[in-house]
Amino acid sequence: MTASSLPRHVGIIMDGNGRWAQLRNRPRLEGHRAGADSVRDITRAARQLGIEALTLYAFSSQNWARPAEEVAGLMHLLREFLIDERAEIMDNGIRLEALGDIEKLPPFVREPLDELRAASRGNSSMVLTLALSYGGRESIAKAACAAARDIAAGILRFEDLSAERLGGYLPTATLPQLDLLIRTSGEQRVSNFMLWEIAYAELVFVDVLWPEFRREHLYRCLEQYAARERRFGMTSAQIAESSDV
Ligand code: IPE
Ligand code: IPE
Ligand code: MG
Repeated sequence: MTASSLPRHVGIIMDGNGRWAQLRNRPRLEGHRAGADSVRDITRAARQLGIEALTLYAFSSQNWARPAEEVAGLMHLLREFLIDERAEIMDNGIRLEALGDIEKLPPFVREPLDELRAASRGNSSMVLTLALSYGGRESIAKAACAAARDIAAGILRFEDLSAERLGGYLPTATLPQLDLLIRTSGEQRVSNFMLWEIAYAELVFVDVLWPEFRREHLYRCLEQYAARERRFGMTSAQIAESSDV
């Protein structure tokens, strides 16, 4: 695979933990625990491949509505993950970031999260972003609020609020454009993930449950991505012409 056919930014909707556990007659939380192994393998593989940014949908704004016991279990797993992976993240030069309503997370998650974000700030091999308490609509609404505030303060003229300008208010503005979105578990929907950012992302839906998703599956997704022609609204001929030069 050539560097240009490698996506710069990959987003993953890590779905299917509950079904993986149910198939084994185990509590759902065991599926979430097993899913952490997939996170480790995929993060490592992405960094080795030279992907610049990996964004993982770990907990949605809507997931707060799950049974309290599952939510609490997920929060504890998150804390465990942040503590256990600290050395691996630092040793591999990975910068950890987070997207979403982080203030809503319990302090026992926010503390190791903030600490690792601060400690890894200068790392540059890959940025790993965890979408936590995240919703795409919520994120766009927040961006609109921030833009409105700047308009009210006279920092921005309302007629200058273009799509590009509004995109600049999104928390993903500092990341490369999202090139590839993968969803595991066979569901073919977006479930409020990066609604703005997927505008021209390639979508790949995989029939594997997240706890079984390993680097071999990621490689297959990348092959699919590399085989597609991204036209961004143009014609095939125009794309061929621009890649000739
Ligand atoms: C994804 O797995 C993880 C989270 C949403 C936190 P699910 O828990 O949604 O698993 P299924 O979809 O019920 O199998
Ligand atoms: C999306 O999965 C959220 C995450 C993977 C964190 P869900 O399992 O919550 O999505 P729906 O409910 O099937 O749409
Ligand atoms: Mg699910």
